[in-house]
Amino acid sequence: MFDLIVIGAGPGGYEAAAHAGNLGKSVAVVEKAELGGTCLNVGCIPAKTFLRSSRLFREYREAAVFGIIVGAPSFDMPALVARKDNVVGTLKRGVSALLRDTSVEVLHGTGRLVGRNAVEVDGERHEAANILIASGSRPAVPPIPGIDGERVLDSTSAFELTAVPERIAIIGGGYIGLEFASFFHEIGTEVTVYEALPRIATGCDGDIADELLKILRRGGIEIHLSCLVLGIEADTLHYQDVTGAQHSDSATYILNATGRTPVVTDLGLEEAGVDVSARGIRVDAQGRTNMPNIWACGDVTGRHMLAHVAVREGIVAVNSMFGRPDRMRYDAIPAVIYSHPEVAMVGKTEEELKAAAVDYRKAVVPMALAGRFLVEHVKATGLVKVLAGATYGEILGVHAIGDLSSEFIVAAGAMIEAEMTLAQASEVIFPHPTVAEALHAAILKAQ
Ligand code: NAI
Repeated sequence: MFDLIVIGAGPGGYEAAAHAGNLGKSVAVVEKAELGGTCLNVGCIPAKTFLRSSRLFREYREAAVFGIIVGAPSFDMPALVARKDNVVGTLKRGVSALLRDTSVEVLHGTGRLVGRNAVEVDGERHEAANILIASGSRPAVPPIPGIDGERVLDSTSAFELTAVPERIAIIGGGYIGLEFASFFHEIGTEVTVYEALPRIATGCDGDIADELLKILRRGGIEIHLSCLVLGIEADTLHYQDVTGAQHSDSATYILNATGRTPVVTDLGLEEAGVDVSARGIRVDAQGRTNMPNIWACGDVTGRHMLAHVAVREGIVAVNSMFGRPDRMRYDAIPAVIYSHPEVAMVGKTEEELKAAAVDYRKAVVPMALAGRFLVEHVKATGLVKVLAGATYGEILGVHAIGDLSSEFIVAAGAMIEAEMTLAQASEVIFPHPTVAEALHAAILKAQ
């Protein structure tokens, strides 16, 4: 009998398993595909590898501004896919080593709950005192006729393209849609985004989302808002614009980036009595389901579909199941959209503060205030916005647009976690010259 069986070896599952192993528990993790889950194999890491190449490709074209004269570059898609596979392979070996070093047994196969204390893996029964479901999510398939067509890619198949497409139509202007839009645009593909809502990057602070829209459009990405995709026929996408007028566009590929859905089927959840719906497994602040000894973390809970949230939720669940007090806090979760430019955020948006009738003050500064930002980029614009309580100046939210903002948003997250005021944060010494100094400037301005 194991102390813990984890179903799913994505970031939530493998980090939780390793943590329990480190605590001296006997642990097994069940995985039917590859160690590392979506993030490592077909999500964050492949996406960032692709975006690294597209950024280099752009910078190569801008090289003359930096005083470097180069010939006309071309893009080698198979070489990029090979590099991505290489990076993924290295990281996967790292996960394998982590599980070995923490004495976690890997059970390859499909895991299914059979009661509250047992998991069947391809017909073989294994018992455990605790079971953690970390089965993740998969691309959502919206009810659009023709969405299963041959020309339709999702965020998994898009990583296997062998040539640069001439035109791509992207359904959905969220994280995945915008990251792929930036990638394809930078490698020379004509990109159009079709978003159902009146804004891209829903969930972002409105000022930042508006700025991102402006920059992407100015750069040459076509973006249709409040737009209803009616159907897909071969390479043609039919849609209705905000006025109700209907149009058709054709593209080499159509990318479905309309969200992800928790993987809750074929796990034996209902049979085990777990409270679950298509929106995910319901859990409390420690990751407990309604059934004793059964826990869940990450995308399968349908809350924040972010790898770093899954990791923390998994650790909290493991600590809680083994009597170590812990709880999940959602007030300071940083999120990044790795579009060009990047968007990085943590804490409350201005819209959330208004909706909650919180009195706040704000400051917005251009990133170009930081000398390093100008040194690093060509013709770049960016903003940092700080939101703080009106009376005490406690930092409530930080929202940034501009490349490298992903590298300093953690500092803002730490400030919110530590409940720092603007006055306290202003005393933090920022290294010079860094892009992060724009955050310092915004903190000083908001004071
Ligand atoms: P998303 O929820 O961020 O965006 C999906 C977008 O598609 C929404 O704006 C929605 O309004 C739109 N949409 C839905 N149905 C539509 C339709 N029929 N026609 C037009 N638009 C439609 O989901 P996304 O981008 O697919 O990402 C899935 C999850 O993966 C997210 O929850 C995100 O947290 C995570 N992710 C995180 C990344 C990061 O941290 N950098 C990168 C990629 C994904």
